[in-house]
Amino acid sequence: MNNYTWLVYNTLFAGEHMLKELSVNSGNFLLSLSDAIDLSGSTYGSHQQKLAYIVWQMGNAAKLSKEAIEKIFIAALFHNIGILAIEDKIRERRVDKENLDIHCILGELLFEFTPLLKPSAKVIRYHHRPWNEWDSSIESPYVIESQILCLANMVELSIKHDQFILNQVDRITKDISSSSGSIINPNLADLFMTLSKREDFWLDLVSPRLYSLLINFKSFQNYIIGYDTIYSMTLLVRSIIDFRSIFTATHSAGVAECAGILSELFGFSEYETKLIKIAANLHDLGKLAIPDTILNKPDVLTEHEFNIVKQHPYFTYSILNTIQGFDQISKWAAFHHEKQNGSGYPFQIPGGMISTGSRIMAVADIFSALSEDRPYRKSMNKKAVNQILTDHVNNHNLDSRIVFMLLENQDEILFRMREKQNISKTYYNEQVAMIDEQTPE
Ligand SMILES: [Fe+2]
Ligand SMILES: [Fe+2]
Ligand SMILES: [Fe+2]
Repeated sequence: MNNYTWLVYNTLFAGEHMLKELSVNSGNFLLSLSDAIDLSGSTYGSHQQKLAYIVWQMGNAAKLSKEAIEKIFIAALFHNIGILAIEDKIRERRVDKENLDIHCILGELLFEFTPLLKPSAKVIRYHHRPWNEWDSSIESPYVIESQILCLANMVELSIKHDQFILNQVDRITKDISSSSGSIINPNLADLFMTLSKREDFWLDLVSPRLYSLLINFKSFQNYIIGYDTIYSMTLLVRSIIDFRSIFTATHSAGVAECAGILSELFGFSEYETKLIKIAANLHDLGKLAIPDTILNKPDVLTEHEFNIVKQHPYFTYSILNTIQGFDQISKWAAFHHEKQNGSGYPFQIPGGMISTGSRIMAVADIFSALSEDRPYRKSMNKKAVNQILTDHVNNHNLDSRIVFMLLENQDEILFRMREKQNISKTYYNEQVAMIDEQTPE
């Protein structure tokens, strides 16, 4: 191994034995997860971050309190989750106006269940409500916040990404002023006209460095969040990743339970076991960047399609690695397709360098996948699963100690996985039912 490779591996693996109480900075955490959701093809590059930047500028221009600005800022960072959640169901029933309502209602529901996002739930609910449909003053609760997000969305959607931004300012401001009094409150539209005169506003808005700009601007209150808050947010993100398809609707829930049990059996501390569950919730985060036509293809993938799929652990790593305090979690999460013989993807880490947590994740991921239906096959029975896992051991793909530990406890592990997966299934079905209710045939 040359010096450079050694340096890379040291960087990747440093810290495995230095676990301490998990705490992260709220802004850093939320910006990174928002970035992950922006990987999805449903939005055009950093759409949510751009909205967050506009609402922050507008909130300051309107002299709103720090708390109010943060409420809109967080709403902006995740305003698309209602579209991404059970994306295929929404697409099946595509009807424009209803669609808008659905993603607002679903967004509100998802925000309500997540402590970090809860204060912003109503902003999401009303972020497409035009000004002339409000019969309250702009100062009433949620009105100004929802209106600022509504305006920001209009501005961002007017940007043509193949044209230089400063050449578009006239057209965009004309669009907004023509909506003044109908879609947008006139005072807010005026405030925007003043803001739009500043070139730096537009240049920051389209800067590829927007993530670091938002951190540098201190555009949110920095506070430290602990395990429970982080965990609840990862449950939400997990549902966004998994609920894109009925076939994967309970996948990460199964991986989290299986990885948690294997960690306990292996002798991990209670705290490490909790961390591995966070890593498992987020292990397929990078799949947000993979088109669901490929993820749900009812057939074997072509080489080209498989190359696209191979990116997903890379994206998982590159997103989670930007969260300070997530060193261990990012590696445990992202190395789940690495193999003991070094032929895994995308980092091709030699077996001896793969940490125990990542090996556990690899076994839990395969076991969970084999136990689930896929578009091209049914879930596998115990005998077939055992055979495949044993083959993986013989081919030096998976760690034999972990696989045999799993096989010895297979019935118990599967039972506990099913319990957790049933909870996810119920949650998934509730969302589908809500969409059915909102869209008459
Ligand atoms: Fe929206
Ligand atoms: Fe994966
Ligand atoms: Fe997976």
